[in-house]
Amino acid sequence: MTPAERDMERATRMLARAKHVVVLTGAGISAESGIRTFRDTMRGLWKDFDPATLATPEAFARDPEVVTRWYDHRRLGCLAAEPNAGHTALVAIERGLIRRGGRFTLLTQNVDRLHHRAGSANVHELHGTIVVWRCTATGNELEPPPSPFREFPPRSAWGGLLRPAVVWFGEMLPIPALDAAARALRTCDCFMSVGTSSAVYPAAGFVDLAAASGSGTIEVNPQETPASGRFDVSIRARAGAALPELAARAFGTGT
Ligand SMILES: NC(=O)c1ccc[n+]([C@@H]2O[C@H](COP(=O)([O-])OP(=O)(O)OC[C@H]3O[C@@H](n4cnc5c(N)ncnc54)[C@H](O)[C@@H]3O)[C@@H](O)[C@H]2O)c1
Repeated sequence: MTPAERDMERATRMLARAKHVVVLTGAGISAESGIRTFRDTMRGLWKDFDPATLATPEAFARDPEVVTRWYDHRRLGCLAAEPNAGHTALVAIERGLIRRGGRFTLLTQNVDRLHHRAGSANVHELHGTIVVWRCTATGNELEPPPSPFREFPPRSAWGGLLRPAVVWFGEMLPIPALDAAARALRTCDCFMSVGTSSAVYPAAGFVDLAAASGSGTIEVNPQETPASGRFDVSIRARAGAALPELAARAFGTGT
């Protein structure tokens, strides 16, 4: 057995025995749907911009036109994308667990809504979503149609500027999602981190909270990350290849 096969075997055993599986996902799981990771979005028209200078409340206050153009461009990219085999395998894992009386909690840093569109039921969005926009005057939210805004910055019918309902650098993460994460990490017995660089806290610390609760921990990422050494098992493969294999081995095919 190669080391990679041994890791797959250990991860399968962990999943097959688990009663409560918590999965944390990042931009990497959507890369195979053609949605670029943060680093990769900075191409073409946007090559001279830095996400850290666009994804802030200060940038929106200074230049709402540029910020909303960038987010609208990314919103339309998300709406045009389709969930991939990695997203679908997480649905299979959730349904497989529920069938045998277990629990499944999905915590995502992604803003693209692809987990919902794939059919995942128990999803918590830690960074909000780009498909919903919020009126800055009233706080009211709406889901704009799948076509570009006609003016930039867009204005809502209530009079204020519209901004994407995502969490910008320097903003608080939504309390309900953080509470759900804290509760799930206290009770899980299998924690899996998929396609995240594990560079940004608090999500980068979830593996430590899960391990402190006695949970087994699995990382799925083709690249090593700063957190790799803190996982029990690392699967160095694409989510679209590793997750369907894990789902089939742990829950059987046709889940
Ligand atoms: N799809 C989205 O919604 C989206 C896209 C870009 C950025 N963002 C935002 O930017 C932040 C960036 O942090 P992050 O950690 O999510 O992403 P990141 O861009 O920092 O890291 C992506 C990780 O995914 C890995 N990866 C690449 N292809 C993969 C694949 N096929 N399978 C599995 N892993 C793969 C990379 O090795 C890398 O470690 C997020 O918090 C998110 O809010 C979201």
